[in-house]
Amino acid sequence: MSTPPASVTIGAGTNAGSPQFAGSPSGSVESGSISPDLGTLSDPERVVPDLPPDPVMEALDLNVYYGDFHAVHDVNLSFGKHEITALIGPSGCGKSTVLRCLNRMNDLVPGARVKGEVTYHGYDIYARGVDPIAVRTNIGMVFQKPNPFPKSIYDNIAYGPRVTGMKVDDMDALVEEALRGAALWDEVKDKLKQSAYGLSGGQQQRLCIARTIATKPEVILMDEPCSALDPIATSRVEDLMVSLREEYTIIIVTHNMQQAARVSDRTAFFTARPDETTGNRTGLLVEYNLTSKLFTNPNDQRTEDYISGRFG
Ligand SMILES: Nc1ncnc2c1ncn2[C@@H]1O[C@H](COP(=O)(O)OP(=O)(O)OP(=O)(O)O)[C@@H](O)[C@H]1O
Ligand SMILES: [Mg+2]
Repeated sequence: MSTPPASVTIGAGTNAGSPQFAGSPSGSVESGSISPDLGTLSDPERVVPDLPPDPVMEALDLNVYYGDFHAVHDVNLSFGKHEITALIGPSGCGKSTVLRCLNRMNDLVPGARVKGEVTYHGYDIYARGVDPIAVRTNIGMVFQKPNPFPKSIYDNIAYGPRVTGMKVDDMDALVEEALRGAALWDEVKDKLKQSAYGLSGGQQQRLCIARTIATKPEVILMDEPCSALDPIATSRVEDLMVSLREEYTIIIVTHNMQQAARVSDRTAFFTARPDETTGNRTGLLVEYNLTSKLFTNPNDQRTEDYISGRFG
């Protein structure tokens, strides 16, 4: 694994390493549709190869600890370019923990420790000399609860480019582009100087997505981005994710299996198992598969139990 020299901006590398997948079939599951109504995939015509041919990011033997607590065990995942990957599983299985490792957000959690590697275009983002701020500029994040800054709509978008020192010739144009990209422009174009707090929850979440894309990341991480939204706002954000896939790579944590089935190309199912000595529950990846396969013909009995509502 090569390490970028300190001066290299994370993001300019070449892909390296082959995809690795955790989870092997541990029980035979009969083929056929699993019961819940999972809706239809966003684009039934879309063809997704069995393995990501061009992984933007990989987690390699990723283990995460909070102090002595082993929260996540040996996760191997490969995230395809211009794909949406969903991370699903019961509460406490480590979805948010894994997601936060993908842009070094866990650095900000006291006591959190990461073992293994997370690569971005083949570079280990945890290698010495890598600037976590640069990592987060390339790999942006949208949180569960819309969290606009107490600023105007315009300044929410302009903030990131300003503080990261992005060279911007025309900030107005960049603000418009980001708001259009997040399907919010038409709703806010006449009130850009008004406080972002005046927007509805769904608009605030799209504003946060616009704020994220304003710094032109390549990857967008989303942790339950719709859990605070009503069904109409959720549907708008889902449509937005699908349209953003054209330009971005998206990794989303969701408790909503219909949402995973509707928007994602691949799904990773996690669960938690009690440690034999301590009894603490450690998260692990059970199965990573094409969404269409995972929801209709999973390889692992635990996946089937979860998606059919028998567990979790
Ligand atoms: N800051 C922290 N300090 C200590 N333990 C933590 C911390 N954050 C998470 N954990 C623990 O790590 C494990 C995984 O938590 P995580 O939040 O990643 O789960 P999750 O799958 O996202 O759950 P949920 O679906 O409820 O959001 C849990 O046992 C949790 O209690
Ligand atoms: Mg979580």
